[in-house]
Amino acid sequence: MSKLAINGGQPVRSKAWEFNFHGPAEIGELEKEYVMNVLNHGKVFRFMNDEDKSYPAMMEKFYRERLGVNYALAVNGGTSALICALAALGVGPGDEVIVPAYTFIATAAAVLAVRAVPVIVECDDTLNMDPEAFEAAITPYTKAVIPVHMRGVMAQLNEIVAIAKKHGLYVVEDAAQANGGSYFGKPFGSIGDIGCFSFQFFKVITSGEGGMVVTNNEVWAARAGYQHDSAYQFWGDQISVPSIPGENYRMSEINGALGYAQAQKMDGIVSKLRHNKKRIVAGIKDIPGIRLQRVVDPEGDVSTGVIFFVEDKALAQPFSEALRAEGIPNGNIFNGGFADRHIYRNWDYIMDKRMASPVGTPWNCSEYKGNVDYHADMCPVTLDYLSRAISIGLNQRIADEDCDDVIQAVTKVAESLLIKA
Ligand SMILES: Cc1ncc(COP(=O)(O)O)c(C=O)c1O
Repeated sequence: MSKLAINGGQPVRSKAWEFNFHGPAEIGELEKEYVMNVLNHGKVFRFMNDEDKSYPAMMEKFYRERLGVNYALAVNGGTSALICALAALGVGPGDEVIVPAYTFIATAAAVLAVRAVPVIVECDDTLNMDPEAFEAAITPYTKAVIPVHMRGVMAQLNEIVAIAKKHGLYVVEDAAQANGGSYFGKPFGSIGDIGCFSFQFFKVITSGEGGMVVTNNEVWAARAGYQHDSAYQFWGDQISVPSIPGENYRMSEINGALGYAQAQKMDGIVSKLRHNKKRIVAGIKDIPGIRLQRVVDPEGDVSTGVIFFVEDKALAQPFSEALRAEGIPNGNIFNGGFADRHIYRNWDYIMDKRMASPVGTPWNCSEYKGNVDYHADMCPVTLDYLSRAISIGLNQRIADEDCDDVIQAVTKVAESLLIKA
């Protein structure tokens, strides 16, 4: 057994790790061309352009066709996409919305933005919402559930949608981190009542900032449109659905141009990511002492990362450090250190039930009859998985040799730290 690099041995890899973000790493001539088109004609406001010339409108068409849905609405972020979705469904004061304990804080913040109460439930070994925990958390006040496809890995939608149907709840799919993925052949975002995407910098494709709302329902589509623009009727066709006041979540032409160029690259990015993940998974799946995150449909996984669990959480941090010393950047997802806003216990304003004004909050307004409470240790199963999880971020530019370095390094560290003599 060779000596670990952390103990002075030879590292598996000394070459720098190519760590580029997904979409941003691909910004090139096409993005420049489309953005320059907008700057050259100068109509940066989307509703000044004909539908066939507007880049946000082209993105919407792209999503409608790709997902096979009737309606798509480009917005200025994933958070605003979620807010539009919830507002479209009529979620508001007095309602509870169930969210997983492991997701970006924005999922829960969107619930608060429509003045409803987020209810946090456990994740399982998929690191996504545990369907049983979801069902157990349903109360007479529950109106919707937001399964999240965290890090590109699918939530268990068959189970979640069936439970939601049984209880008459809406399903909003948060696919912010999962652009380009699918669930047993169906594209993410097209399975729940409404799907939401983000094109923020860290996502599979980027428009700088941006998002998309997709649905098959005409009324919800119109209401999402109203929510994304307080004067929606000024610009488009007159819609028969009664209007509601909105905010300003419009996507600009510049963001649309960047996003539309990136959309052409999405399949290329995802297929390379999948190739890399498959190669690494094949090489590490049988290593004694580690267990891979459960992925219910590997074919649909966006594959932005590889996550595995070690059995003993006390070994997770040493494992992570040893692996880094071997030249493989990685992280132990939860170790009480950095207050990662993807983990519910670090959602400070939610844990403290704090809104901009203390009056009439989602929790203390007269409409709310429930009694949801939060505390740092309320989801021990999720914390246990995250504290034992080692996460390696993948990039589409990583070559087969880089994947093989990962396999060799994980094997080496596992043999040293996990396998008892
Ligand atoms: C799971 C999840 N939901 C929602 C969002 C919000 O997206 P945005 O940052 O575009 O508002 C993000 C990412 O930032 C996310 O990761």
